[in-house]
Amino acid sequence: MTSILFVCLGNICRSPLAEGIFRNTLEEAGQVESVRIDSAGTGAWHEGNPPDPRSIEVAARYGIDIAGQRARQVRQEDFSDFDLILAMDKSNLSKLRQIAPNETMAHLRLFLDAPEQEVPDPYYGGDQGFEAVFHMLRTASERLSRMLGDQQSS
Ligand code: 4NP
Repeated sequence: MTSILFVCLGNICRSPLAEGIFRNTLEEAGQVESVRIDSAGTGAWHEGNPPDPRSIEVAARYGIDIAGQRARQVRQEDFSDFDLILAMDKSNLSKLRQIAPNETMAHLRLFLDAPEQEVPDPYYGGDQGFEAVFHMLRTASERLSRMLGDQQSS
């Protein structure tokens, strides 16, 4: 089973959305049984909190329920528990590289590929920011789901 951890700063805006959208994408592709998915933040400020209401709302608008998620900080075990750790932006990727144990086997990457490599932090902006983030995450989820499907059938 492949395991994937999505990481942003607070684990209340972007990575809970990434987790929910990716799970939904896998469900639609009939692949959800073969992947374990979670999300976490490099910061601990929101530990135990539900996602930001704006993330819950944009997901709900597209039929995805993320309200039951609770924020947590990245922990050392994550680097051995997950195969792939996908950061929303370069700053969180570099934080992950800093705190990863030397022997870490997990692959650390940005979730998006070029040219738009970073999922912008929508926390201090308006609702359009959350809508834009939703669509970036949906596109990246579909791409990742296709890659996993190709891997599993080869
Ligand atoms: P996230 O957004 O990293 O996408 O969850 C943020 C949420 C909260 C804060 C920063 C970013 N904060 O500073 O509290």
